[in-house]
Amino acid sequence: MSMSSHNLNRREFARTTLLTGAAIASGVLAVPAAPEKRVRTGLIGCGSVSGAYLPVLSKCPFVEVVSLCDIRPERARKRAAEFNVANHYPHIDQMLAGEPFEFLINLTDMQEHEHLNRQALEAGKHVWSEKPIANSLGAGQELLRIAKQKNRRLWGAPITAQSPQFAFMARTLAQGALGRVAAAHADYGHEGPNWSSFFYEKGGGSMPDLAVYNITSLTGLLGPAKHVTAMLSIVTPEREITEKGRIKVTEEDNAQVLLDHGTGVISHVQSGFNYFNPHGHDGSGEKRHTITVVGSDGFLGLVGYDWAPQGVDLATKEKPKLERHATDAEGYIWQQGAALAAECLVTGKELLVTPEQALHVLEIITAARESQETGRRIALTSTFKWPILS
Ligand SMILES: NC(=O)c1ccc[n+]([C@@H]2O[C@H](COP(=O)([O-])OP(=O)(O)OC[C@H]3O[C@@H](n4cnc5c(N)ncnc54)[C@H](O)[C@@H]3O)[C@@H](O)[C@H]2O)c1
Repeated sequence: MSMSSHNLNRREFARTTLLTGAAIASGVLAVPAAPEKRVRTGLIGCGSVSGAYLPVLSKCPFVEVVSLCDIRPERARKRAAEFNVANHYPHIDQMLAGEPFEFLINLTDMQEHEHLNRQALEAGKHVWSEKPIANSLGAGQELLRIAKQKNRRLWGAPITAQSPQFAFMARTLAQGALGRVAAAHADYGHEGPNWSSFFYEKGGGSMPDLAVYNITSLTGLLGPAKHVTAMLSIVTPEREITEKGRIKVTEEDNAQVLLDHGTGVISHVQSGFNYFNPHGHDGSGEKRHTITVVGSDGFLGLVGYDWAPQGVDLATKEKPKLERHATDAEGYIWQQGAALAAECLVTGKELLVTPEQALHVLEIITAARESQETGRRIALTSTFKWPILS
């Protein structure tokens, strides 16, 4: 790894990975130097979100997608034809025994991640997993132990800490511009997916699917949490799912989670699958502050969702009129996590996203469930390196 690759700033990092392919394709820019190598990549889970990942991966100069897998073989076959991938398999065993690859991208049902991630790590693959990395903190820590033992990398979505808006907020907080920070609020919801039942079944729920973004952002901005108190409920007990019909909802579809960051700062996440949204679920349509942070001397408001942020409003005692900052996405999009991870594998750069933080967020989610069941405030044991500054 060269010093120059480490000296690239976040803007250059995201732009290299994302835009090189697009630039070559459109002929707008001169063809950049070819990367040292492409990571031979296998992708498992060819459902909805694969349609968001594969266009980015197929343009990424650090990735060669060599195989796809889905237990519904027609889905893997369809994506292979669509994205010109040479091999597709109906089961991970066949995928691992088939065309050789180094890096697995796991986009399966939330309940499947843990065992597939473990199988891939044990087979010596690097892993990028959609959230959650595992179903419990203990199982996730075991995955990280296997990864370290095998000298392989493990990463998990979401990548909210990679956005320039997160960077602006983290920097502003670190500079002390808000004075004594007291409180933060984050909210994110939509009306709930209708294409798969796993979102509503054991191991699913609105917290690992949606609140996970806000919990990642708030712990990233304010530090690891020490205690969790939560109230969870089911607002819609039955749902209509495509190709399946009516199903029972057994996991929370409505969550209010309070975090004590141990420094006097208390934050709150509100999230669920019953949130009317006048603009559907289009990230660019959301213009509200979905995250706010307040202190004795100032206020920060993130404009739009933390996975598709549009800017940050800041007011301080010196400049009390809200001013908008960080309106340039700088190449950041939420779909780019696995492509950024592949860039790390090739160049030796590091992401701001860490498995330790993903595991801390997972512990918060399981502790929120324990708090709901017991009516108690739950102490957390995990932590991660903080602050997250680029
Ligand atoms: N859909 C989105 O917009 C979106 C956005 C961000 C993150 N995610 C996350 O991505 C993951 C997948 O969500 P989705 O919406 O794409 O679901 P989906 O149901 O559309 O797709 C999941 C696919 O995984 C396959 N699968 C399940 N178990 C498997 C196994 N053991 N081996 C191989 N294939 C298997 C299923 O057959 C299905 O095709 C979830 O963790 C979700 O939280 C989804």
